[in-house]
Amino acid sequence: MTALADIQNFKITKLTEHVGTEVTGIDLRDPLDPKTLQVLNDAIVDNVALVFRGQQLTPAELLKAVSQFGELMPDQNQRYVVEGLPLVSVLSNRHKDSTGKQAKIAKNANWHTDHTNQEFPPKFTTLYGVDVPSKGGGTSVCNMNAAFEALPEDIKARITPMKTTNTLMSSTRYDSANPDIAREQQTSTKPPMVQPLVRTHPERGTKAIYFHKGKVETVADMDPFESQDFLADLLDTALKPEFIYVHEWKAGDLLFIDNRTAMHKAGFDYDPAEHRHLHRVLVRGDRPF
Ligand code: SIN
Repeated sequence: MTALADIQNFKITKLTEHVGTEVTGIDLRDPLDPKTLQVLNDAIVDNVALVFRGQQLTPAELLKAVSQFGELMPDQNQRYVVEGLPLVSVLSNRHKDSTGKQAKIAKNANWHTDHTNQEFPPKFTTLYGVDVPSKGGGTSVCNMNAAFEALPEDIKARITPMKTTNTLMSSTRYDSANPDIAREQQTSTKPPMVQPLVRTHPERGTKAIYFHKGKVETVADMDPFESQDFLADLLDTALKPEFIYVHEWKAGDLLFIDNRTAMHKAGFDYDPAEHRHLHRVLVRGDRPF
């Protein structure tokens, strides 16, 4: 691991060549001064993901800490939030759906970036480990700028002008996904949100492959099922182990993911009898271009 910075009392260390960095020596219950905040923001953007180790944050302290990095935004799924704090979502393998059955959580098993059906999707997704399995259940993060740049030139040229249309849930998933969310989409009158398939980072000007397969209705002029196949093939070609960091959780870790360059997914390789319980707070971003 390479130390990127050892400033004041904290240390930033790169975790892999293409993605991931960690910070030690910061207690996020204390406010960050503007210079430290800038260094940390740059470390997130330049390394796609950053983890603060060893935090002890109540949901209210988590909100306050994350709000230093930008305007907070609500998760569009308000079914599972901390009581009285609608900006803090609860991710848990023990959620129930509206029928009282174990809620389906498989949607998180796919690579995605968050809330692509919104005009201003979150720039950062932050995840805080409350209770974590003793083994497995890591969050994988892929550097989609590195993945894009490594594609053959003809594929880059083909996908760069493409657009996706995005809804709360792709119609191709109605049968397999959480029925509450499927119903919400089926009764929605909202027009689909058009997004670039290759997104430009507003702070760095770099390009990254950008989509949430579970929300994509169409790509370019393809029908919904062709679109899903096209995106699956694109991921097969683009994702390489060296662009991926798997964050193995410890309680008290706070992971920041830059959604403008990253895709992420939850791991389900843990004992389901153990509780996997994270809190999530989103920081609003710009209109993708
Ligand atoms: C998410 O997909 O936003 C959550 C990832 C996780 O649970 O690790």
